[in-house]
Amino acid sequence: MKYISVALIFAATLASTSVVAFPVAEESYETKRDVSCDGIHSFQTNLAYTSGEEVVFNNQLWKAKQWNYNSQPGGVAGDWTFVDRCNPQPTDNANCAGVNPWNKSAAYPRGSQVTFNNHLWVSVQWTSSNSPGDTSGTWKDMGACK
Ligand SMILES: *[C@@H]1O[C@H](CO)[C@@H](O)[C@H](O)[C@H]1NC(C)=O
Repeated sequence: MKYISVALIFAATLASTSVVAFPVAEESYETKRDVSCDGIHSFQTNLAYTSGEEVVFNNQLWKAKQWNYNSQPGGVAGDWTFVDRCNPQPTDNANCAGVNPWNKSAAYPRGSQVTFNNHLWVSVQWTSSNSPGDTSGTWKDMGACK
């Protein structure tokens, strides 16, 4: 009986140790050189990402390891690889000149541009009535308008 409880305590210690040891590779963050994140868009919720896609998150560049949806870079799911810190800090200024505001009644083929909440959005597939940023994931946020 005594051995069993010792083993249990040992296992519990190991388990808590592995949780504590989780934090992301701080070292690689410090030793890598900074990259330009120009043209890379911010991570967005409600949008599916495929393997290899890059996003900016917390002023860092991240690359998708696999298809994912609502999986934050650096999160426990491990769907993203940290690439580098963005330097200079990316400026989110989309050119919205001549782009019409989103219209709920209109149908949009893939690649259509609209403005919504002072951001530029592009449709990733044919879409109608789904508002930019909603859970349909049919619109990609191209950043705040200049
Ligand atoms: C919105 O789209 C509908 C359907 O295409 C169209 O009839 C309407 O004129 C549009 N409204 C605006 C403000 O563009």
